[in-house]
Amino acid sequence: MSKSLISVSVLLVGYASAQSGMNVGNRQQYDRSMLEHSASNMQKARSIAYFNNIDCRYQINAPAGHYIGISFDTFLIEGKNDFVSVYDGPEIDESKLIAKFDTAEADLQSQSTGNQMTLWFHTDRANTGKGWFANWVAKKVLPPINQFGTSGVVISPNYPKRYDSFINQLYNVRVNPRSRVRATMEDFEVEENFDNLLIYEGMVQEPRFLVANLSGARGVKWDHTFAGDSFSMKFASDRAVQQKGWRMSWAQV
Ligand SMILES: *[C@@H]1O[C@H](CO)[C@@H](O)[C@H](O)[C@H]1NC(C)=O
Repeated sequence: MSKSLISVSVLLVGYASAQSGMNVGNRQQYDRSMLEHSASNMQKARSIAYFNNIDCRYQINAPAGHYIGISFDTFLIEGKNDFVSVYDGPEIDESKLIAKFDTAEADLQSQSTGNQMTLWFHTDRANTGKGWFANWVAKKVLPPINQFGTSGVVISPNYPKRYDSFINQLYNVRVNPRSRVRATMEDFEVEENFDNLLIYEGMVQEPRFLVANLSGARGVKWDHTFAGDSFSMKFASDRAVQQKGWRMSWAQV
C-alpha cells in the first residue's frame, strides 16, 4: 500500500469536516460558567485494525484566547514504529513537538500553549493495532489573579465546587513593601501527584524560587511566611479526577 496523507480539520465552533472519506464525528458542549467547549471523536477505529504505512494529520483549531487539552482513552498501537505525535500549533514541526505516544504505558495526555494543536499518526509497514480514541477540550485562557493589600483569600477555580480539568491558573499576591507575607492553607483537597499547586517566593516562577509543590496530603494545613513582600502561584490540573480544590488566606506580617 502506498503512503497516503489524510488531513482532517476539526473546527471547534461550527463543524467538523473530514476529507478522504474518513469517519469523524464531532460533539460540542458549552459550559457557561467556565466558557468551556469540548468535542470528541478525534478518531475511532471501527475496523479491526488500522492500516500499515499511513500518515494521518489532524489539526484542532480552537477560538482565540483558548488552549487545548487532549487525552487518549483508548490507545492500542502495535509495534515500536507506530506513534502519535502532538505539536503545539498548526503544523507538524519537530521544534514544536510536545508529546510523542507509542505505548499505552505513558501518561496519555497533553496540552497546547496556543489555540491550535496538530496530531500526526504514523504507522510503519508491519503490525497494526485497533487504534486510538482521544478527547480534546478547548479551555479559555484564565487571566492571572492579582491581589494587593494587607490580607486576602485566594481560592482554586470554582471553589468550593470541583475545579476543572486542564486548569492553568496563575496567582500573584503582594503586601506593602518591606513587610512580609504569610500564607495559610485553610482547606485543601487536590488529586495527589497529578494536580499541583506550585508556590514561589516573589513574582518570578522559576525553579530556584519554588517554595512548595502541593498536592494530596502535602497541602493540608500548609503554612508559610515568605522572606519578602510577595509570592506567586500556579495551579495546574490534569484531565482526570477533579476535587474540591483549596482555599488559602494570606496576610501582611
Ligand atoms: C510537583 O510535584 C509533582 C508530583 O506531585 C511532579 O510531577 C511535578 O514535576 C512537580 N513540579 C515541579 C515544578 O517541581
